[in-house]
Amino acid sequence: MGILDKHKFLETNATALLIGAFAVVTIGGIVEIAPLFYLENTIEKVDGVRPYTPLELTGRDIYVREGCYVCHSQMVRPMRDEVERYGHYSLAAESMYDHPFQWGSKRTGPDLARVGGRYSDEWHVDHLTDPQSVVPESVMPKYGFLANRLIEPTWIAERLSTDVLVGVPYSSEMIELAKADFAAQADPNADTDGLIERYPGANVSNFDGQPGITEMDALIAFLQVLGTMVDFTTFQPDPNR
Ligand code: HEC
Repeated sequence: MGILDKHKFLETNATALLIGAFAVVTIGGIVEIAPLFYLENTIEKVDGVRPYTPLELTGRDIYVREGCYVCHSQMVRPMRDEVERYGHYSLAAESMYDHPFQWGSKRTGPDLARVGGRYSDEWHVDHLTDPQSVVPESVMPKYGFLANRLIEPTWIAERLSTDVLVGVPYSSEMIELAKADFAAQADPNADTDGLIERYPGANVSNFDGQPGITEMDALIAFLQVLGTMVDFTTFQPDPNR
């Protein structure tokens, strides 16, 4: 009896085919799922990735509130045209503290995963206030009102604590000092040693160039950190993965 004849038995016997298919799917399923129970984490640890500062996190909430994700993705895919345009493809670790993630699938505007540091704060103020003044053919709406809305860090400690619930490693010190860190990051004259120690590489600036901390300050602080936490001149993918 050749192999094809044996197969004919399966193909002409519904019960045998069902049992055979069940066995194959079960084995395949175990092979795919079982390892996940033994991995502590499916995200490779990467140097430099840290939780957002209180001001960046506030800016991120404004980004989500304003629906920027409707037109902008935050994930550089590992394809040549994207890597040449935006920079190194996104690593899972770079969005591990994003709740909810902002990967997106709609790009009316460019991907923003690596926009941090690409433009000056002043450019962002001009662009957010009147995108067409910088890019005449832009269809992006104007967000100048953000610069008129002063914000207070009233609930910032609670905001950080909420992220702790979903696994973001804010320490009790970070939560205790959240209000001070929030204010310090927007004040170039403040003592920011503690802020930088807690959040290495945090940009300190009067982002919108006017007195008082506004939604514009927070949003630009967030945009300026995007994609800048990992140093890709020294980054090596883990060879064991
Ligand atoms: C209706 C779609 C739309 C929405 C909503 C939108 N944008 Fe844009 N955005 C664009 C387009 C189109 C461009 C490219 C032209 C330009 O630079 O204005 C762009 C460009 C940008 C750039 C420059 C990116 C680069 O690499 O040059 C930034 C930064 C940006 N948007 C931020 C935001 C933020 C923050 C929000 C939410 C407050 C937002 N956008 C909302 C469409 C949109």
